[in-house]
Amino acid sequence: GTPLRDLAAAKGVYMGTALMQNELTGTSGSIAAAQFDSVTPGNEMKWESVEPTRGTYNWGPADQIVAFAQAHDMQVRGHNLVWHSQLPNWLTSGSFSNGDLHAIMIKHVTDEVTHFKGEVVHWDVVNEPFNEDGTFRSDLWYNQLGSSYIADALTAAHAADPGAKLYINDYNIEGQNAKSNAMYNLVKSLKAQGVPIDGVGFQAHFILGQVPSDFKANLQRFADLGVDVAVTELDVRMQLPSDATKLQQQAADYTTVMNDCLGVSRCKGVTVWGFTDATSWVPSTFPGQGAATPYDENYQPKPAYTAIQTALGGT
Ligand code: G3I
Repeated sequence: GTPLRDLAAAKGVYMGTALMQNELTGTSGSIAAAQFDSVTPGNEMKWESVEPTRGTYNWGPADQIVAFAQAHDMQVRGHNLVWHSQLPNWLTSGSFSNGDLHAIMIKHVTDEVTHFKGEVVHWDVVNEPFNEDGTFRSDLWYNQLGSSYIADALTAAHAADPGAKLYINDYNIEGQNAKSNAMYNLVKSLKAQGVPIDGVGFQAHFILGQVPSDFKANLQRFADLGVDVAVTELDVRMQLPSDATKLQQQAADYTTVMNDCLGVSRCKGVTVWGFTDATSWVPSTFPGQGAATPYDENYQPKPAYTAIQTALGGT
């Protein structure tokens, strides 16, 4: 059949995958390049990866992914700049004054966005800022800098690469709930203040059969604020072992997500968080669960793959 990336392009959206440095060659590299036109580095652009020692940058793994993307005419989605997790030890174990921490954050955002200037189309500038109840996550950024760290990070990223599309990204904001309401109010207030915010990323780490029925309506209410939206980390996990019934339900869930994005004109694309069960993050985080992606552990397409293809107009 027609590759997903070509079907997506014909619909005016991109179809992306997370990819790790060790997946660039062999079967995984071939499938990624053939089927997807956007790549999100799974870990290689995170702070602990790019600056493991203070002041010493390690761009190599991320650069390799960017080079792979360029060689295969794929966009890069940068992930991510300011997050509570996967921070280098020097940062989490140091104790910095608020002023120093602010300067460290601005330098990090500036240096990383500058390094990839013109190469990264979409940046997840701020990742996972909220708790489930809609309060700000109590991480070092919020605790020391207050919620203004978000506007400051966006402003620094925009200054470093005015052409990049800047996103805030989070999970469990796909339906209308306390967390997505908080994100909605944040984006509304950032827009009102003229802060450079281009989009909201909906991670979409779903459980089988539990795609929120109001996902499309929720995407649309964000779009109505004047920002783009994207599905940034899609997967649908199930209790293992998988069976035909579960895989059909999973296909239905992927169909729903694709149609929800395609039904919102400001939804720019969908990224799966790894395209194969062989390397998905799910089993190590949720023991006993997995089979969350469109390809099985042997790199064979599953019903979920066909669902994506069909939703994109393929036959
Ligand atoms: O690199 C080491 C390797 O040297 C070591 O042998 C191995 C042993 O466990 O660990 C390797 O590091 C792991 C790394 O992934 C690379 O595979 C870490 O332990 C592991 O914690 C890390 O997990 C990543 C996770 O973020 C950490 O939070 C996943 O790959 C990555 O897919 C996942 O992605 C996140 C998004 O960034 C944000 N949204 C949620 C999503 C899923 O958790």
